Amino acid sequence: MSGEGTCVMADPQVAGGVLVTGSAGFIGSHLLGHLAAGGRRVTGVDRRDPAVADHGARVRQVVGDLRSIPLAPLLEGVSTVVHLAAIPGVRPSWREFDDYVECNLLVTRRLLEACHAAGVARLVIASSSSVYGEVAGLPMAESRTPAPASPYAVTKLAAEQLALAYARRPGSRLSTVALRFFTVYGPGQRPDMLIHRLITAALTGSEIAIYGDGGARRDFIYVDDVVRAVSRAMDAPVDSGTFNLGTGRNVSVGELISLVSTLAGSAPQVVHQDRKAGDVGFTLADVSRTADSLGFRATTDLAEGLRRSIEARRRQLAEIGA
Ligand code: NAD
Ligand code: UGA
Repeated sequence: MSGEGTCVMADPQVAGGVLVTGSAGFIGSHLLGHLAAGGRRVTGVDRRDPAVADHGARVRQVVGDLRSIPLAPLLEGVSTVVHLAAIPGVRPSWREFDDYVECNLLVTRRLLEACHAAGVARLVIASSSSVYGEVAGLPMAESRTPAPASPYAVTKLAAEQLALAYARRPGSRLSTVALRFFTVYGPGQRPDMLIHRLITAALTGSEIAIYGDGGARRDFIYVDDVVRAVSRAMDAPVDSGTFNLGTGRNVSVGELISLVSTLAGSAPQVVHQDRKAGDVGFTLADVSRTADSLGFRATTDLAEGLRRSIEARRRQLAEIGA
């Protein structure tokens, strides 16, 4: 496979710069904070204003749409790109497919062309557990044939595979690490996602709609673990490939509701709705390839991650007087 021997040096003082796309998003803003604390020279780009305005002198934040913004200037002096920008939700992707194709696939192609021209060494791309589709009972291993169950998942699989094709392209210096994130949670989680909504409903006594009977299971991974894994993937001496980023454990939505209620000290008002098209019943990461190749395992226990998420949301709600 291409990419062997193309890792960049881990020392932040000598390593090349980093470009993070989607840097104003949930995961991107945590990553920028982590890289800034580690002394990396980073450019973040997002079409939204940054979630955190100032990460210090070594971090530059650019507001621009990756469908059109000139990319060569962003890649000057950059050896590593972390591509997080995308439209992320599973359920709306049935009706807004053109936007998903543009932002998830065509933007990735544009970025890959620019990385190829600039001689970027390592691309870490955010893929998704959703590429596996409906799999009952067994951990999802990277060797499994993908069977996406939503248009979103199709775009994530296509983007991941395109990035791997660019790494195999003759003459390419690019090494692609595609991280298949499982469901990520933590402070600042996107407001369309279950844990954010559940915590908000528990703290405010408002309603939450649960899609289906509460039996759906997810492998939830805490955002600090994701950031640590991305950071490791930026420098790891591995060949191009796909790597799961989950915990190897999962819980049902029903179990999660009980846990959040206990930790928050109050229960949300649950109303049940029909299961949504594109949602799978079960996710669970096989974490062995990631542990063996990247030397990474998630360490944040679900209860601890939820505790931190509840406290962060409690502070945020108090600030806005809710
Ligand atoms: P997010 O929506 O919070 O962040 C994505 C960011 O990308 C947004 O800030 C958005 O403005 C930006 N973006 C989208 N299109 C853009 C464009 N054309 N130009 C510039 N910026 C653009 O989502 P997130 O939850 O932080 O997810 C980050 C990545 O991880 C996505 O690629 C998503 O598919 C993937 N992922 C997320 C999860 C999860 O549980 N959050 C799980 C699996 C995969
Ligand atoms: C999440 C992310 O949104 C995707 O970007 C990502 O690709 C995917 O994880 C992944 O693991 O790859 P999802 O698992 O749907 O997708 O995350 P949540 O929105 O937190 O939903 C988890 C479960 O809760 C699903 O069964 C969903 O149907 C349910 N849910 C969600 C509700 O019952 N009610 C809600 O209001 C929101």
